[in-house]
Amino acid sequence: MANPWFETVAEAQRRAKKRLPKSVYSALLAGTEKGITVEDNLAAFAELGLAPHTAGFAPERDLSTTVMGQDIAFPVIISPTGVQAVHPDGEVAVARAAAARGTAIGLSSFASKPIEEVAAANPKTFFQMYWVGTREQMLARMERAKKAGAVGVIATTDWSFSYGRDWGSPVIPESIDLKTMIKMAPEALTRPRWLKSFARHIPDLTVPNMVAPGEPPLTFFGAYGQWMGSTPPSWEDIAWLREHWDGPFMLKGVSRLDDAKRAVDVGVSAISVSNHGGNNLDGTPATIRLLPGIAEAVGDQVEVLLDGGVRRGSDVAKALALGAKAVMVGRAYLWGLAANGQAGVENVLDLLRDGLGAVVLGLGHSSVRQLSPADLVIPPGFTRELGT
Ligand SMILES: Cc1cc2nc3c(=O)[nH]c(=O)nc-3n(C[C@H](O)[C@H](O)[C@H](O)COP(=O)(O)O)c2cc1C
Repeated sequence: MANPWFETVAEAQRRAKKRLPKSVYSALLAGTEKGITVEDNLAAFAELGLAPHTAGFAPERDLSTTVMGQDIAFPVIISPTGVQAVHPDGEVAVARAAAARGTAIGLSSFASKPIEEVAAANPKTFFQMYWVGTREQMLARMERAKKAGAVGVIATTDWSFSYGRDWGSPVIPESIDLKTMIKMAPEALTRPRWLKSFARHIPDLTVPNMVAPGEPPLTFFGAYGQWMGSTPPSWEDIAWLREHWDGPFMLKGVSRLDDAKRAVDVGVSAISVSNHGGNNLDGTPATIRLLPGIAEAVGDQVEVLLDGGVRRGSDVAKALALGAKAVMVGRAYLWGLAANGQAGVENVLDLLRDGLGAVVLGLGHSSVRQLSPADLVIPPGFTRELGT
């Protein structure tokens, strides 16, 4: 049997591609329309160079930081992703892996596991909210999350229901029942390990965190329909949501300077410069290009995080050098989960932590706090500023 340990996120992705049925793999690959944004998220990191020293290195390096009041061992947290039909243990395995590595998890409100199980597996759990349903329903969801032990809320509002995908949208089944298994048989039969892992524990594609505990969970499409039928949030709505969560609150999905400033005005504790991993409007620039302007504008008033395209420790270092306090990762841990369950997610987190440690060493620093633009080779015209 091949060594379950992998050395790069690229290798985790190759293994995920090999293990998962094509439609499940494509659902993770995602990216709207032509995939311009999803590609730029990756390409922009590669445009940035590093300026290493030859000697004079620090003997020890501190990678730890805090995000939304939580101490974390290194500046990488789990970004919320919905419906993890990648592994039967789904978000619980991811929560355990993050806890084992001393970091936090954002749990999607479209997750397949209940918040109670996830928060029990990792006390550093932030609950992610979409603007779905009535205000009463949203309050009930946040109350449930609080009771379960969630220590922060991540509000995600950058979703515009854009659905055309040049590469062919995957079909997401309503539930992975026998009927779906048979329908997926031609592709699933070529993925015996994935099939076997689900044969022992067949999950429903349901979203348990949208209803009160004990109530039957909504199906994925039921919840999605409710979302499409909800009036999109105004800034007053975001302010209302923020007021009703007594604790740290992040607004995820900020691309523009004016939105970053409004987020400060409504009293958020943190923002994530994010384009939903290239899943919102295609043509939005890479988040790493937008980060310097936003960090400069609001970085002294709120914690600024970034997500989108982080695949290695050097990407984390680049984001920190350009003003992020920490990054969130999405696909990287999903590939790890698909490749090797909880151990695969731990493997990915180890790669990001150790890769970051190597860069901090090579750049001659003793702490991630010392990273700055002077550590980077930034090509002319690299950054973008949207709005004012
Ligand atoms: C399959 C998939 C599902 C996602 N679901 C959610 C979600 O439910 N809530 C959310 O806030 N973001 C969601 N995202 C966006 C991620 O939280 C994150 O912004 C993005 O994946 C970061 O880019 P990366 O995958 O390149 O790291 C999803 C992303 C992917 C790829």
